[in-house]
Amino acid sequence: AAPVIAIDGPSASGKGTVAARVAAALGFSYLDSGALYRLTALAAKRANVAWDDEAAVAAIAGGLDVVFTESDICLAGVPVGDAIRSEEISAGASKVAALPAVREALLFRQRAFGKAPGLVGDGRDMGSVIFPQASLKVFLTASAEARAERRYKQLIEKGFSANLPDLLSDLQQRDARDSQRSVAPLRQEADAQMLETTHLTIEQAVKQVLDWYAE
Ligand code: CDP
Repeated sequence: AAPVIAIDGPSASGKGTVAARVAAALGFSYLDSGALYRLTALAAKRANVAWDDEAAVAAIAGGLDVVFTESDICLAGVPVGDAIRSEEISAGASKVAALPAVREALLFRQRAFGKAPGLVGDGRDMGSVIFPQASLKVFLTASAEARAERRYKQLIEKGFSANLPDLLSDLQQRDARDSQRSVAPLRQEADAQMLETTHLTIEQAVKQVLDWYAE
């Protein structure tokens, strides 16, 4: 089987940036698994399906017509751009992600990304559920304050309005929901390396992951 690097961790920890750079450095593909939950929340909203209607949301997740391209993600042939990055959709993603039937509907779609020469996947359950056989598992985290600041900068760059206290409380709510749910709760796997990035640059975090992978 192709090698997999699983990078899991809480919201806005910088997993996505680190995972994408590690993938580029190794020539591996990159799976942004959170995008699938975000797309599911967005598609449900567009179809007027409530985020807690498990059967209907799972049907939407199973039927998502999504293509990941170099520059964007296309939903039913249309680039979604930043529509999946708003705080509203972040909260929706975390709600639909707590539904077992939704996670089930997205399972094989995620495993299909695991092809030669290799894959870097980022999310909450890459190492625990989707790729338990991963060659390297990393639990990437940072203090809640550092994560809120990272998300703040990201949102402002994308042209969203944002304020730090609200972001911090959104993030803490989402972390609580993600860690307390019954399926695939967010936690550090026993065989995962802990990468605490509060005081690390992106380059330092990327280098650490590459060094572990080379070991
Ligand atoms: O960028 P951020 O870390 O804030 O979020 P994300 O990785 O895009 O994930 C959005 C939401 O999807 C999370 O709050 C989780 O509830 C959910 N998710 C999940 O349950 N399992 C994954 N493998 C990835 C994301």
